[in-house]
Parts: sequence; C-alpha cells; structure tokens
Amino acid sequence: MAMSRFNPLKMTGFSAKWRKLNPVNFHSSNPQAFSIQELNQLLDENLFAMDSLQQLNYVPDEGTESLRSAISLLFTNISVPEIVITSGAQEAIFCCIHALLETNDKVLAITPIFEPLLSTAQEIGCQIITQSLQPKTVWELDLNQLEQNLKQGIKLLILNFPHNPTGAMLTFQQLNQIISLCDKYDCWLLSDEVFRGLEHEESNRLPCVADIYPKGISIGVLSKSFALPAIRVAWVASQNKWLMQRLIEIKAYLSICNSFIDSIISEKVIKQHQKIWQRNRKIILANKFILNEYMNNHSEYFSYSVPEAGCLAFPIFKPFSVERFAENLVYTNKLLVLPSSVFYTSINGFRLSLGSKDFNDKIELLHKLSSDN
Ligand SMILES: Cc1ncc(COP(=O)(O)O)c(C=O)c1O
Repeated sequence: MAMSRFNPLKMTGFSAKWRKLNPVNFHSSNPQAFSIQELNQLLDENLFAMDSLQQLNYVPDEGTESLRSAISLLFTNISVPEIVITSGAQEAIFCCIHALLETNDKVLAITPIFEPLLSTAQEIGCQIITQSLQPKTVWELDLNQLEQNLKQGIKLLILNFPHNPTGAMLTFQQLNQIISLCDKYDCWLLSDEVFRGLEHEESNRLPCVADIYPKGISIGVLSKSFALPAIRVAWVASQNKWLMQRLIEIKAYLSICNSFIDSIISEKVIKQHQKIWQRNRKIILANKFILNEYMNNHSEYFSYSVPEAGCLAFPIFKPFSVERFAENLVYTNKLLVLPSSVFYTSINGFRLSLGSKDFNDKIELLHKLSSDN
C-alpha cells in the first residue's frame, strides 16, 4: 500500500538497518551524555533528590511557570508567556511547522539538513526549495542566492545554526542580513538553535532569533547543548501570540504536556547553563583538534571544511560513493556514521560526532577502513 503520510525517516532507517551488528555510534548529535553522578558533581547539587519531586501530577500544557521563567533567562526580549515547552525538539519542529504551513506553501531549507526540518513540511505537501551550504575552508551560506530564493514567495525559511550536520555557523552580521531579508519578503523564520552554547569560540554566539525578529521562532532543547537527551524537554519561543496559542493546540494531539519530573530537573539545570556548555565545549574542542590533524594528514581520502560550532563534522569522502563507504565501515569495522543520503544532499559527505569522550578509538576505526580502500 502506498504511504503518503509519516513516511519512515531515512536517518532512523539507516541506523535501524545495522542495529543487529551493534555498531559503535560515531554520528551522535549530542555531546557525551551526563551520568547522574557527573551532573550532580558539576553543579554541586543533588538534582534527583526525591524530596524535591513533591507531587507527581500533570503540568500545564504550556509548561510550568518556573521552568519557562528559567528558560527566559537564556533570552533578552522573550518573557514567560512567549515560551511553550515541548517533549523534545522533534515535537517542537512538528508543532511549529504544522502551525505555520499548509499544502503548497513555499518553504526554503538549507542543505545538508537534519531530516525532520525538511520532511515535516514535505509531508504537509509544501513546495520545498533547497539551497546548499558550500564547502570552503568552513561551510558557507551564499546570501545573494538566499535573497534570490526568498523572492519566490517563501512563507517560511528554516535555519539551523550551529548546524547539523556540518558544524557551520553564521556571523552576527549575516544573521542580521538574513533577518532584514525575511522582513523585506515577509517571511517567517524558524531557527533551530538546539546547539546554541556550543560555539567553538564563545564570542561567536548569536542572539536567539525570537529575541530580534517578530516573525522569528527559536527552538532549544536539553538533549544537545546541555548533553541531557534522557530529559525530554525542549522549548519554542516567539513574540507572536497567535503562534504560541496554536502550538499548545497542536501539542494537545501529541504529548499534551511534558513530564513533571523532567520539568523540575530542567529548571535547575538550565539555571547553570554556563557550566554545562563549558564542559561540553571542552570535550568538543579536544576532539576537533584530533580531527583537524587527521583530516590534514589524509587529504587523499577526505576534503574537510572545518566545523565552527556544535558537536558535528561533515567530511567529504573522495575515493567513491559515501553510501558504500558508510556501509563498508559499519559492516567491516562496526563503526556507524551517517552518509549524505539522510541529509537531502548530493555532497558526498558523512556526519561524525565530536561529542564523545572516546573519540580517539573511533578515529582509529575510521582510519582502518579508509586506509584499506
Ligand atoms: C538540529 C536538530 N534539531 C532537533 C533535533 C531533535 O532533538 P530531540 O531528539 O531532542 O527531540 C535534533 C536531534 O538530533 C537536531 O539535531
């Protein structure tokens, strides 16, 4: 039977195909997840103490006031009523895209891309226009081309900086230019900011889009820059009251509200975001140093644009199809990376993670195969 809705995502399909081999994950998009002990120690707290968990009841659909208040501290112009909590960033993306888009609406997406940012709009029957990042010394976005694309009557521009899967970043000036263009062409701007806090140079951190553009929407989450994927808490922020209400209405068909336990812990964690981001950046920068050196020494196999933010890199494999390379890698060395086909791009690259503490072992496994080919 032909399927028209909720087609399986390629990214989960690729991982599921190889699960039986129990491969080493070298593509994870979160920094090394915390253990309870490490988190308590870093924050000098006992976050999971049962007596702080009081009543195990539902929480309000939009999220608790105190959690939203903690999140509002990550913004400069956004206040509590302009924040809605979701169960994970995936739910945030789903709700935003369903709130804003209808069949045949035009959407502009930047590739390579985290699949649901594009496929959710595709499922609704939107017209998707894509623009590719360009692999130079770092990954670059051509703003002249962006304007040409926006002129086509785009209703929603979808951005994700720091970027999954390339580690690309925008400058403050570029972000301002993009916002001026969105304003000029009356376009919504959905900004997936789940890696915000993991800029490799702290001074490159951008303002949240929701703070600086009335039709801007910012998504944040605990699974990425906070390295806490076990806590399914994310947020959507926007100055637009209609959108906030619509998100709550759509979320009523999904999780309705998030977990009280998650809310209490998230609130405490978010208040200490600086310490957590610093811990994660330290892991990423150490791994990036190793990767830079490896890629420089193996330029016969890889071309490499240096990641500037987030915890991912997307080297381009030169000898032959990266799909075959990724399959060989998992089959022969039990090392799982994600090839270009799951990111809507024809660039022959693969995603690898800079987030894990055993990065050296994984590079060894990568090396074993690439040098055999
Ligand atoms: C760019 C981006 N946005 C959203 C998500 C979804 O986050 P979560 O799994 O916490 O819902 C991910 C997960 O990999 C991501 O990389």
